[in-house]
Amino acid sequence: MVDIKSKREIEQMREACRVTALVHKEIEKVIKPGITTLELDKIAEKVIRENGGIPAEKGYPSYQKGVPDFPGSICVSINDEVIHGIPSGRTKINDGDIVSVDLVVEKNGFHGDAARTYLVGEVSNEAKRLVEITKQAFFEGIKYARAGNRLGDVCHAIGAFVEKNGYSVVREFQGHGIGRSMHEDPGIPNYGKPGKGIKLEPGMTLAIEPMVIQGNPDILELDDGWTIITEDGSLAAHYENTILITEKEPEILTII
Ligand code: MF3
Ligand code: CO
Repeated sequence: MVDIKSKREIEQMREACRVTALVHKEIEKVIKPGITTLELDKIAEKVIRENGGIPAEKGYPSYQKGVPDFPGSICVSINDEVIHGIPSGRTKINDGDIVSVDLVVEKNGFHGDAARTYLVGEVSNEAKRLVEITKQAFFEGIKYARAGNRLGDVCHAIGAFVEKNGYSVVREFQGHGIGRSMHEDPGIPNYGKPGKGIKLEPGMTLAIEPMVIQGNPDILELDDGWTIITEDGSLAAHYENTILITEKEPEILTII
């Protein structure tokens, strides 16, 4: 069942998403060669808490038995890491890295979710293009994120754009509805069929998140039970915003 947010709930969503965007602004400022992913994590957590939020990824349970809850306040995934990288004091960011930071803020019982892939120092043109296409894929998708359209219209637009540009979309992970829970219905794959899926309605809040691989689409999970990497070692990028479906254009809640 897809939850339709009331006016009041939408205002709460706006606030959680505003804090999410603020954190990304701060990360963008401080991310430099030499900083560790744990330092980024601590900075993010501080900004979240100073703004009355809770880092919702911290303590998030794994669906796999024997895998500890997610330990970080943010996910940090470097180069061939796709998503769910665990912050560590031993992982330094290097000049030329592309670094995906995915974070979820809970505030007053509502969640905001956004991911960016940051270019650190002198990045290759190939990596820059991957990051740019991943971001553009989100914007291609949300052209269709309008009341009356079908969810498959959005999913298809994302996948088709990515593949037209010679890249692959990750199939095992997807976007999602969001609100009182980090993950709500519907699931939002980065591929699909136009005209299929649920009908979009005003008041739906959705996290749309292309995860794009330079090479083949296959992925592997590291022994930590969380970090997802590309099987072929090629680069990956991630771009995500929480949006609100309205009568007209969608509103992007995690850009301020
Ligand atoms: N932010 C991710 C998403 O977009 C979820 C992260 S999993 C967690 O759905 F364990 F880190 F929380
Ligand atoms: Co998400």
